[in-house]
Amino acid sequence: MARDKAKETDGGWRKFIWNADKKEFLGRTGGSWFKILLFYLIFYGCLAGIFIGTIQVLLLTISEFEPKYQDRVAPPGLTQLPRAVKTEISFSPSDSNSYQEYVKSMDNFLSKYNNEKQGSNMFEDCGTIPGPYHERGALNKDEGMKKSCVFRREWLQNCSGLNDPSYGFADGKPCVIVKLNRILAFKPVPPQNNSLPPEMTLNYNPYVIPIHCQAKKEEDIEKIKEVKYYGMGGFAGFPLTYYPYYGKLLQPDYLQPLIAVQFTNITFDAEVRIECKAYGENIDYHDKDRFQGRFDVKFDIKSS
Ligand SMILES: *[C@@H]1O[C@H](CO)[C@@H](O)[C@H](O)[C@H]1NC(C)=O
Ligand SMILES: *[C@@H]1O[C@H](CO)[C@@H](O)[C@H](O)[C@H]1NC(C)=O
Ligand SMILES: *[C@@H]1O[C@H](CO)[C@@H](O)[C@H](O)[C@H]1NC(C)=O
Repeated sequence: MARDKAKETDGGWRKFIWNADKKEFLGRTGGSWFKILLFYLIFYGCLAGIFIGTIQVLLLTISEFEPKYQDRVAPPGLTQLPRAVKTEISFSPSDSNSYQEYVKSMDNFLSKYNNEKQGSNMFEDCGTIPGPYHERGALNKDEGMKKSCVFRREWLQNCSGLNDPSYGFADGKPCVIVKLNRILAFKPVPPQNNSLPPEMTLNYNPYVIPIHCQAKKEEDIEKIKEVKYYGMGGFAGFPLTYYPYYGKLLQPDYLQPLIAVQFTNITFDAEVRIECKAYGENIDYHDKDRFQGRFDVKFDIKSS
């Protein structure tokens, strides 16, 4: 009896897996299994289709050459060389070790602007005075790679490092090199002549984004005295000729226009805070971002 019972339960299990009478496997007939498999095949197929489809649509709207969203970087930053440690440039003209790091970083940066680096046919001569925007077609590869305008290091004159390898540091007349950060397809719009501080309208040019450096605090005005600017055509501004920038992929040799600022009669043995600002209709300043459209730097030149 006990044996029969065991056989019966055993048979129940076996019957469940394969019921020969009803031709059911795990409780379902072949047709039923087929329908279920077909259903899931179609179901997951559709899910995968939707997934791939949405990604394809997204990729279609994205260009390799033009970022879709770049509002976070819209107003350009203004930065200077040499980089100041805690925004302070402190040295002694009689001790070359004290300014060696500054000179080295400027040498490094400006070496990209050496004439021999701009000899390839990806560079073109865009003249020696600032002009209007230099459009180079659409932001895509259809017309091939874009050329870049030559920027001559000697335009920075006494701050070029060519005739004075210490960039004025040895004479206590330090230079800083100023650049506007690259933003793809950005076209800086020059300010109206009448919106500029009066001392800047003397050397006005409608095709530059002018920069101006002055004392950050009123009590420092007397300590700065003379500021000299060197740039393309002798203008203290970034020429529109070098804009817009087409990006690393399309315009790999692009060189930003530079301006050099030299403080030729700055007071020694005092902390002198200077703020440099770029002026333009679409250049903004922000209280929280010290490098948006301006920067400040503190000089502390020791006479001994
Ligand atoms: C450049 O430096 C030389 C030598 O120090 C000086 O004679 C000349 O006036 C400077 N040029 C400018 C534009 O300041
Ligand atoms: C710019 O403004 C100054 C003073 O307001 C004026 O003397 C000068 O002629 C103006 N320059 C141009 C190009 O409009
Ligand atoms: C520097 O400033 C002082 C004081 O204003 C002045 O006497 C001197 O002539 C200036 N030096 C130069 C080279 O401009």
